[in-house]
Amino acid sequence: MRIIGTGSARPSLVVTNAMLENFLDTSDEWIVTRTGIHERRVISSENLEDLASTAALRAMEDAGVTPEQIDFIICSNVVNEYVTPGLGCIIQGKIGATCPTMDINCACTGFIYALDIAESYLATKDMKNILIVCAEEPSRMMNWKDRSSCILFGDAAGAAVVTKGDDLKAIRLSTHCKVEALYQKRKLQPTPFLTKEESDGGVVMNGQDVFKLAVSSSIKDIDKVLGMAGITADDIDLYVLHQANVRIIEAIQHFVKQDRSKFPVNLNKYGNVSSASIPALLDDLNRGNKLRTGEMLLLSAFGAGFTTGACILRWSK
Ligand code: UT7
Repeated sequence: MRIIGTGSARPSLVVTNAMLENFLDTSDEWIVTRTGIHERRVISSENLEDLASTAALRAMEDAGVTPEQIDFIICSNVVNEYVTPGLGCIIQGKIGATCPTMDINCACTGFIYALDIAESYLATKDMKNILIVCAEEPSRMMNWKDRSSCILFGDAAGAAVVTKGDDLKAIRLSTHCKVEALYQKRKLQPTPFLTKEESDGGVVMNGQDVFKLAVSSSIKDIDKVLGMAGITADDIDLYVLHQANVRIIEAIQHFVKQDRSKFPVNLNKYGNVSSASIPALLDDLNRGNKLRTGEMLLLSAFGAGFTTGACILRWSK
């Protein structure tokens, strides 16, 4: 597999920490010190499917492929206004593609899971170009009265077009059922037969548990993929990590003992945009001419589940 195009799209509304101070018992100083986040983009008038389609079209343009040349769409999404059909079906129609689509919900780790699916489909099926779109609106999942969680997230879409190639050097996925660390439940439609109580509400998160799990599992994943690829931490040019909290990124940096310049960050401007974090950051780097052919990238993410994933990818675009 190799990546031949990237794209992203973000809502227009910038929500600064100062704006959160208007309705939450918080401060810019607390948020910046504990998370590194200064502002985030939040959906106001946009629809997620439009952001997702824009990101997809930008990635296709970057890759130089037309809608007819896309053989499969993998869409990573946790929630959107449609329960069904899957967001991938809607994106397919909006971008004018005709191929099959598949939605996955692996929370913030979705892009790495999608890369793994794409790798095996390209190897085993008669497919040339696969479009991966990660589109998330965590702002619609939050309890905006819970200052420990709602300050962390933003909305965005990130996309990549991948084709046959040998740039994926190692990949590792994991899931450890730990629902209580981070979950959201919703009430479904009532039925005449229902006898149980159901709960509703925003995301419930144990931030400290997630923090510890994020650091320990990312370190393990990174160690494993480096071993699988037969290289060391020094051989990695850029660590493209899930953008959740700059302190998590610093803890990982400390473990691999690499220079800070190898850890690009955009969470200061966008917060945690779930599975869109890594592809949108890749797109920022790609469009900012920060990626050189032949560079080795290590991608690593974690999220609700608890899911984790990491891979080593040569950049050859
Ligand atoms: O994709 C995965 C998504 N989730 C994550 O990545 C979450 C990972 N965890 C974290 O990023 C951090 O644990 C948080 C940023 C959520 C919290 O940071 P922390 O350093 O672990 O703080 P804490 O939970 O230990 O809370 C410290 C204090 C508490 O007050 P007391 O009990 O010491 O009086 C909190 O009530 O900070 C308080 N606090 C806040 N204060 C001002 C929590 N949130 C806020 C806030 N503003 N927004």
